[in-house]
Amino acid sequence: MNTAPALIRIAALEKTYPGQALPALQAVDLDVGQGEFLALVGASGCGKSTLLRLMAGLESPTRGSIRLDGAPVTGPGPDRAVVFQDYSLYPWLTVLENVRFCRRLRVHTGEASASQAAAAVERAYALLDVMGLDAVRNHYPNQLSGGMRQRVAIARALMAQPRVLLMDEPFGALDAQTREVMHELILRLFEIERSTIVFVTHDVEEAVYLASRIVILAPHPGRIDGIHVPDLPPPGDRHPDLKLAPALLHWKKIVLDRIRATSGVRHDLDKLERLAELSRRRHAP
Ligand SMILES: Nc1ncnc2c1ncn2[C@@H]1O[C@H](COP(=O)(O)OP(=O)(O)OP(=O)(O)O)[C@@H](O)[C@H]1O
Ligand SMILES: [Mg+2]
Repeated sequence: MNTAPALIRIAALEKTYPGQALPALQAVDLDVGQGEFLALVGASGCGKSTLLRLMAGLESPTRGSIRLDGAPVTGPGPDRAVVFQDYSLYPWLTVLENVRFCRRLRVHTGEASASQAAAAVERAYALLDVMGLDAVRNHYPNQLSGGMRQRVAIARALMAQPRVLLMDEPFGALDAQTREVMHELILRLFEIERSTIVFVTHDVEEAVYLASRIVILAPHPGRIDGIHVPDLPPPGDRHPDLKLAPALLHWKKIVLDRIRATSGVRHDLDKLERLAELSRRRHAP
């Protein structure tokens, strides 16, 4: 059970995209606790990215509401930062400039004092240090590996000290080893920054290892299938060995089985069977 007070409160949420017969999300009720690490998983097309974008204020609901600290979410805001799979860095800015960019905008519009600007620079350096990016701070994104680029994107998202970090398959494009490193990094950052994280992934092991609560979405229409709270140590106390522990594998299987049961794979197998039948007939003497 999550006992933290709700920071984000989602009620009777529906999202139907224009021209679509089925809602991408229907009847979604969900609270995200302050300081919680929540994972969203589910079959492709079940509405994970849509739900994240709605929380970010990048989409607006068709029905229902999303509140952050009691106030309706009506658009993007500095209290929420988003990290996408594709890094989305500015290629013409260096690593340091990318991280400082949001702050620099405010400095340019005169909203920040000199001391605030100095504090921002100090935070940018500290974040780059934690991320192991010190040596490449004057490099451009195209001079970095995928893992480094994603670390820059995370540092930039954290720069404004958002209350909520919204991540959509942030490690989806990384190789397995880099992903492992990123898992440890994000858990340590979660501890240091005390932020609230909503994390979309198709990697069930990653979801169980990182999050304290797992929301499984089901497709057609997108909806919540169930919410699971694995009995594992709190995210801040987890270590890589846990990935091989029976408790984690147990929860991985529970979540995977649910996703398989809701994913329409059966339907796809039926289609394959029909194709095989046609092929057999064609080759029959
Ligand atoms: N801009 C859009 N216009 C119309 N339909 C959309 C739009 N974005 C998403 N959809 C539809 O909404 C549904 C949910 O899409 P969404 O991208 O949220 O799924 P997802 O769970 O993130 O999938 P994946 O795991 O493949 O990333 C899908 O049926 C998709 O085709
Ligand atoms: Mg998606």
